[in-house]
Amino acid sequence: MVEKKNLLLGICGSPRKQGTEFAVHYALNYAAEKFGFDTEFWSVRNKQINFCLHCDYCIREKKGCINKDDMKDLYGKLEEAKFLLFGTPIFQGNLSGQLKTVMDRCRAMVAKNPDVFKNKIGAALAVGGDRSGGQEIGIRSILDFYQQNHIIVVSGGAFGANLGASLWSKDRGKQGIEKDEEGLKTIRKVIKRLIEFKE
Ligand SMILES: Cc1cc2nc3c(=O)[nH]c(=O)nc-3n(C[C@H](O)[C@H](O)[C@H](O)COP(=O)(O)O)c2cc1C
Repeated sequence: MVEKKNLLLGICGSPRKQGTEFAVHYALNYAAEKFGFDTEFWSVRNKQINFCLHCDYCIREKKGCINKDDMKDLYGKLEEAKFLLFGTPIFQGNLSGQLKTVMDRCRAMVAKNPDVFKNKIGAALAVGGDRSGGQEIGIRSILDFYQQNHIIVVSGGAFGANLGASLWSKDRGKQGIEKDEEGLKTIRKVIKRLIEFKE
């Protein structure tokens, strides 16, 4: 396998092929075409992702998670990528349950290797149906996951993409996001910050 030094893994936390998926692909395409990143996309859509059972098998055995489901593909990708972009639709003012479950299941990776995420670079993206529907809270939850796992957190910075990429679909899914030029600009700002860590 050829090692990809600058692999950016985009994870979509939406169960639909709509606004969030479009936004994550937009980010990956921008990073690849403009800045030469290797990219990979993974979505929760149509995946079987079981809840963490808190059985502590991962802590006791240090062999990963006892659950055998579609997380098995993602574990390898998460280990390989240096750059992470977690994207979520806003559900009830926060990240989706699907993405939260992915995060919970990452406990098994950290139990096996406490440094597994250390010094990776992480950014966040959120898509709400409302203009202020909880995007910043969803982003914050993603950034907290990063911080907890020693991932270096980046945003697009002050004056536009303060905590990360924030988008407004107006509940029109992909079509809404395609028209959200301000939101797409926040994605570009976040990716421009990521490139500062590129080798
Ligand atoms: C269960 C549920 C809860 C939602 N809660 C919110 C919310 O709190 N704030 C908001 O702005 N939009 C909310 N929405 C709307 C979605 O965030 C919005 O339609 C978004 O575009 C969905 O992402 P998608 O286009 O990738 O499917 C909710 C949608 C669902 C299904």
